[in-house]
Amino acid sequence: MPKRPASSRQIFADYEIDLKQRLKSGKIQHAVSPHGTNRPYKPRLRSTSELVKSFYRLLGGQRRDVGIALATLTVATMLALVPPAATKFIVDYVLGENPLPQFLAQYEFLHNRWNFLLVLTVVVTLVSFVKIGLHIWGRWNATRVNKRLQMSFRKQAFEHAIRLPLNRVHELKSGGVSSLLREDAGSAGDLIFGMLYNPWRAIVQLTGSLCILAWVDWRLLLGTVVVLPSIYWSHRTWINRIRPRYRDIRSRREEIDGQSTEAFGGIRIVRAFSRQRSETARFMKSNHVMARQELRTWWWARIIEMIWEALIPVATGALLLYGGWQVLEGALTLGDLMMFLAYLMMLMGPLAVLATSATQFQNGLSALDRILDLLEEPREMPASPNSVSIQKKNVHGEIKLENIGFQYPGTSNFALEEISMTVQPGETVALVGPSGAGKTTLCNLVARFYDPATGRVLLDGTDLKDIDVESFRSLLGVVEQDVFLFDGTVGENISYADRSASVEDIRKAAEVANADEFIDDLPDGYDTLIGERGVKLSGGQRQRLAIARAVLADPKILILDEATSNLDTKSERLIQTSLNRLMQDRTCFVIAHRLSTISHADQIMVLENGQLREIGSHAELMEVDGHYREMVQLQVSMQETLTELTDAN
Ligand SMILES: Nc1ncnc2c1ncn2[C@@H]1O[C@H](COP(=O)(O)OP(=O)(O)OP(=O)(O)O)[C@@H](O)[C@H]1O
Ligand SMILES: [Mg+2]
Repeated sequence: MPKRPASSRQIFADYEIDLKQRLKSGKIQHAVSPHGTNRPYKPRLRSTSELVKSFYRLLGGQRRDVGIALATLTVATMLALVPPAATKFIVDYVLGENPLPQFLAQYEFLHNRWNFLLVLTVVVTLVSFVKIGLHIWGRWNATRVNKRLQMSFRKQAFEHAIRLPLNRVHELKSGGVSSLLREDAGSAGDLIFGMLYNPWRAIVQLTGSLCILAWVDWRLLLGTVVVLPSIYWSHRTWINRIRPRYRDIRSRREEIDGQSTEAFGGIRIVRAFSRQRSETARFMKSNHVMARQELRTWWWARIIEMIWEALIPVATGALLLYGGWQVLEGALTLGDLMMFLAYLMMLMGPLAVLATSATQFQNGLSALDRILDLLEEPREMPASPNSVSIQKKNVHGEIKLENIGFQYPGTSNFALEEISMTVQPGETVALVGPSGAGKTTLCNLVARFYDPATGRVLLDGTDLKDIDVESFRSLLGVVEQDVFLFDGTVGENISYADRSASVEDIRKAAEVANADEFIDDLPDGYDTLIGERGVKLSGGQRQRLAIARAVLADPKILILDEATSNLDTKSERLIQTSLNRLMQDRTCFVIAHRLSTISHADQIMVLENGQLREIGSHAELMEVDGHYREMVQLQVSMQETLTELTDAN
């Protein structure tokens, strides 16, 4: 009986144990995936200062705008400190009987209380207006930087992810990548507010009000000084423990997004096997685990805020007591106390802001951490120092395999072993063999989707590893076994390799692929939208579009992996005739099962279990008593039976 899957409570409990161990060892090694299996995790734990430095580096050209935003913010926040001072003046000099201070007494008209009140009101209003203007301008700058940063992170992450080795991309899953691009790149950009803007505003306000308070009575500072060590202490003990939690929530979200994207990608299978309920349950279980993680983290974040917030009334109470006592003693005026209370509020406000933004800051840093992890992953096939970029017109198209061996990453079996052969420019090689023999894998190596583990693949005598991979791939035209089309029009899909292709080129390519007829029958012809992955087309129609796409690329090396397997015999024949013409001056690798396609090839490779069993032309292979002859005889006898049956009817 299969083991009962773990509940979300159990998964969460395991996660907590795992996290404690990771924190204790000081290394992030593994995170428990929602399926309860351990997924290798990036073994890197960056310190806060490292992350802040990277963020500063990534700011790049945005630094000027950040500077402007912070400068205007500083002025605006300092201006905001002016209005509370008016309370003192109103209480002491307008309402009270105190004589005006020296610097105001020299203006005669201020001795009239109404005049003085009016001037105060005008000054306070004006200052507030200027403050609002400056503030909004600075905030606008910061918002713009925030959006630009998000875009820059998204661009870098996208550019990098799209060049990762294939096996890594498969591991990340399409939903996982989009989660990284959306959530993490977005939150990392928000660091402008979480790390710079909000804390800076709080710091300026804090320092400003502290200075004014010190000016009123320096002893008042003592109460606030108590607060500072507690900020430091709570930061040391709690904050650093929160970041790994935020990070884990983010990777859980990545997994959930990966799962749900997959469920919708395979919606037909989900329906066909009536798995809607179990898919929902799977989705919800991961969500439950994430919710548990989020709720636990919520408490960790609130504990810090609670400590800080508890300090605020204590400090306020102490200061009030002291201030009241000073007024009773006659050392401070009532106006001083009123002003003092206003600044006290302005002092405590930023402390609360700092507490909240400290947790926000950690959340943003965890996102940045994940983006940096992605950016640090090696790209596929980096250019070696002596790698060259090639041009299509200079390529002859000779492909040589030298003792090739290959294992898919993470597997122990060889998918291909000791394969050697040479394909002359313009020759066609047919690959035959049972399912799982390694035919697609061999084409993957020729297309350089992977590099061989042992041996070399050479193009015109140059190792593919010494050729810039993107320039090499521009020589290719590939029709894959599982056809993939993009959402868009028929025309856009055919011209995928060459966006500048004319309507005439697109039509010609479609003719070669015998696709023009069905395209003309579509409601909008070449402008018909075909839906995600081409869902609005039949299997055979999709294949013909894929062939047209490869034809339009005008490749030097053409790879056709069961390109016509979904077609009826008549369509296949039609395509085959035009493809034969097309294949004449290109090096071609063709995987097919139909004898008619294979027998015309210059060389036929028979693969079995990743090994090359036989190689030669149709005539040569028919002379030896081997796999190929057996296969041909089987097909011929089937054909004969079919003819006999037809004749009998
Ligand atoms: N991405 C992958 N990761 C790990 N193993 C793989 C991967 N793709 C294929 N394999 C394994 O490599 C072997 C060869 O697969 P390949 O796709 O080359 O077979 P094939 O000859 O094209 O078969 P078919 O005729 O069914 O398409 C198989 O045993 C398969 O399980
Ligand atoms: Mg295959």
